[in-house]
Amino acid sequence: MRTVNIIGAGKVGKTLGYLLAHNQCYRVQCVLNRSVANAVSAVNFIGQGQAITRLDQLQPADLYLLTVPDNYIQSVALQLAQHCYIRSGDVVVHCSGIFTSETLQPLSAKGALIASLHPAKSFSFPEDDVHDFENTCCTLEGDENACHILKHDLVHIKAQVTRIDPNHKILYHTANVFCSNYLVTLVEAALFICEKINLSKSEALGILQPLLSGTLNRILKLGPQDALTGPIARGDHEVIKKEIQALTNISNDHECAYRALGKLTLSLAQKQGFLTPQQILQLQDALQA
Ligand SMILES: NC(=O)c1ccc[n+]([C@@H]2O[C@H](COP(=O)([O-])OP(=O)(O)OC[C@H]3O[C@@H](n4cnc5c(N)ncnc54)[C@H](OP(=O)(O)O)[C@@H]3O)[C@@H](O)[C@H]2O)c1
Repeated sequence: MRTVNIIGAGKVGKTLGYLLAHNQCYRVQCVLNRSVANAVSAVNFIGQGQAITRLDQLQPADLYLLTVPDNYIQSVALQLAQHCYIRSGDVVVHCSGIFTSETLQPLSAKGALIASLHPAKSFSFPEDDVHDFENTCCTLEGDENACHILKHDLVHIKAQVTRIDPNHKILYHTANVFCSNYLVTLVEAALFICEKINLSKSEALGILQPLLSGTLNRILKLGPQDALTGPIARGDHEVIKKEIQALTNISNDHECAYRALGKLTLSLAQKQGFLTPQQILQLQDALQA
């Protein structure tokens, strides 16, 4: 069986390591973290591998999964190229959303096949993530042979796989940020506002949860344009003015975010084709700072 070394076994490293091992794709060889406790905990979670803390303790493997935080990828790749025995044809991959395989260039110079693999998923708890990884879309770019091998492995662990032009990675990841991280921030913004009117977090979540899941279902079923409702879609500029006024009293950041999102929402509402030119002007005016 092919072997894998995991360098930086945190949320993503543990999850992918577990899935590769438990689907009989790879035998996990070494699990490297700076902290021995983290390495041991990752080995216990994955159920395979030797916990190590130094690159010179690595044994050769067919695949190197560099799942360190983005800031460390380049330096770890350089150290790996300088201090470790990488065999020609070994695959080295990192999981950054924005860096390309080019970050691993020092390893390519040693004969490794390099790639980047970005799973479009929010990994928080490996214990849960290993069970809901199925259908996660993973984007690949890099050496053709590396992508071929990784695609085969990813399909085996039931991911969806797509290729990406390396020049598009940053904007692609930005789209992921809007869809996932900023959605979380939007919910937090709503809770912050509810707190100002003395609704507890659990009361507010009780109200917002059906609204949130209903909206999400409509977006996924109809697409954003047909799913959009609310004051901007109806042309209610007075509502927008009053809400901006109310926000000025509680938070400048929330007011700015409301205006910025309002402008994007107005563009979407215009595509629906129901707003009159006068309503559009009134809404534009209401959203101006
Ligand atoms: N989390 C997500 O939702 C997500 C989604 C898609 C892609 N990604 C990508 O996946 C990669 C890993 O993210 P993550 O969320 O799994 O990070 P993480 O949970 O913070 O895990 C990173 C691990 O790397 C270890 N580490 C840090 N510096 C190291 C070094 N110099 N040498 C060896 N190990 C080191 C850390 O353990 P020690 O402190 O013990 O060393 C830690 O366990 C990143 O490239 C990220 O962009 C993350």
